Amino acid sequence: MTLTGAGGVGKTRLAVQVAAAVAENYGDGTWYVDLAPLTDQSWCRSPWPARWDCRDQPGRSPESALLQFVGGRHMLVVLE
Ligand SMILES: Nc1ncnc2c1ncn2[C@@H]1O[C@H](COP(=O)(O)OP(=O)(O)O)[C@@H](O)[C@H]1O
Ligand SMILES: [Mg+2]
Repeated sequence: MTLTGAGGVGKTRLAVQVAAAVAENYGDGTWYVDLAPLTDQSWCRSPWPARWDCRDQPGRSPESALLQFVGGRHMLVVLE
């Protein structure tokens, strides 16, 4: 789901409230990820929670590591 609207209209507040209301349905947790600090294509590195195992590893791109971690789980992710 994508929430759109002018700044200050309440998108973040609504997203967090809804996420809190349904969080118990997600066995692998509910996460809030702030993408605002991103400035370039390193999107798969810095913003993700440290507990998500998407570190760089030999033979594994950050993108595939991220997809592998998220793809196998039942989790709710709020991207800000
Ligand atoms: N329904 C509401 N009632 C009272 N204050 C609200 C409501 N929705 C948002 N706000 C307040 O308005 C401000 C901006 O809300 P926010 O969710 O951050 O907007 P957005 O993410 O769309 O920029 C925040 O200070 C928030 O607490
Ligand atoms: Mg916001």
